[in-house]
Amino acid sequence: MKYKGFKIGNIETKLPLILGGMGIGVSGWKLASAITNNDGIGVLSGVNLGYREDDFYTNTFEANKRAIIKEIKKAKEESNNGVIGINFMVAMNRYKEYVRIAVEAGIDIIISGAGLPLELPEESKGYDTKLIPIASSAKAARIITKVWDKKYSKIPDAVVIEGDKAGGHLGFKKKDLIDENFDFEKVLKETRLVLEKYENKYGRKIPIIAAGGIYSKEDVENIMKIGYDGVQMSTRFVTTEECDADFNFKNEFLNSKKEDINIMDSPVGLPGRAIDNEFLKNVEEGVKPKIIKCVDCIKNCNYKDTKFCISQALINSVKGNIDEGLVFAGENAYKSKKMEKVKDIIEELFY
Ligand SMILES: Cc1cc2nc3c(=O)[nH]c(=O)nc-3n(C[C@H](O)[C@H](O)[C@H](O)COP(=O)(O)O)c2cc1C
Repeated sequence: MKYKGFKIGNIETKLPLILGGMGIGVSGWKLASAITNNDGIGVLSGVNLGYREDDFYTNTFEANKRAIIKEIKKAKEESNNGVIGINFMVAMNRYKEYVRIAVEAGIDIIISGAGLPLELPEESKGYDTKLIPIASSAKAARIITKVWDKKYSKIPDAVVIEGDKAGGHLGFKKKDLIDENFDFEKVLKETRLVLEKYENKYGRKIPIIAAGGIYSKEDVENIMKIGYDGVQMSTRFVTTEECDADFNFKNEFLNSKKEDINIMDSPVGLPGRAIDNEFLKNVEEGVKPKIIKCVDCIKNCNYKDTKFCISQALINSVKGNIDEGLVFAGENAYKSKKMEKVKDIIEELFY
């Protein structure tokens, strides 16, 4: 093995790899357990996990709650009780309740971004769940750590630094995505400086994990050489047999070209990276797809004004209805040329 793992509290990873949570339903129990079974950390997406439940549109919260508990149980079972994480977006309504449900269901790690997870320690009180915030800058990492230290006498168990090549919602303003080139080395140095004070105070290291655009063996090597403790990867694992999305979703990755992967305005109020398709073209031309039913998922979304319903669009795509769906993807999705097995990718990248 080429690399060492890292420590998330008392959890020691074998490989320096975390799967990036992919909503809605793209990283479910199959992909998460496959990553854990191959020595990485498998991560479920916690966003609207109840989308397959019969009562999703009539009883959304209960459907999501049931599905979160089921997916965690299944991922743990299929990985022989291995370490499993779940990703929750701060921008979600009922965020705190969902976090609590996952914690009580025995999740090992909560990873949280799309906003600053300032109150995350509150929701996991009384449990030894490991907490990992996602930040896009040293400034964001500093604010989160400062608040956790002051309010909860706690520091993050690791920090994910997500750069501008990631898929899904991005923690950058649209103009910064075009103007600046994210510099992983610079942000790592700044973040280490910010975290040092807290590492000294608590007597333990906070691993810093890089995310966004890490696709090949060379990408992993470069990131580890700079001094990151690990990588969080998503896009590379979409075109796997184990990924929970419908084959049509994976096929969009396989057929995409570099110029098809672009930034769109998400109703969440953040820019998002997705593959251009019929759905996005229609939305851009002002066609508003009929909303089946608002499930009140996002804090900032107003269903009357929104250009489209993000949940409906993501549910369509994960189920394979691509023409009416939004296909989130990282900048390197066009590099996907064939379906792979999780095990083979991990062997190629880390051994
Ligand atoms: C299809 C897709 C869905 C995603 N959904 C989420 C999400 O629900 N929450 C989140 O924090 N990040 C989400 N992300 C971002 C990933 O977790 C990850 O940090 C990022 O994509 C890493 O970059 P990479 O895809 O280039 O490896 C998503 C990414 C993709 C490709």
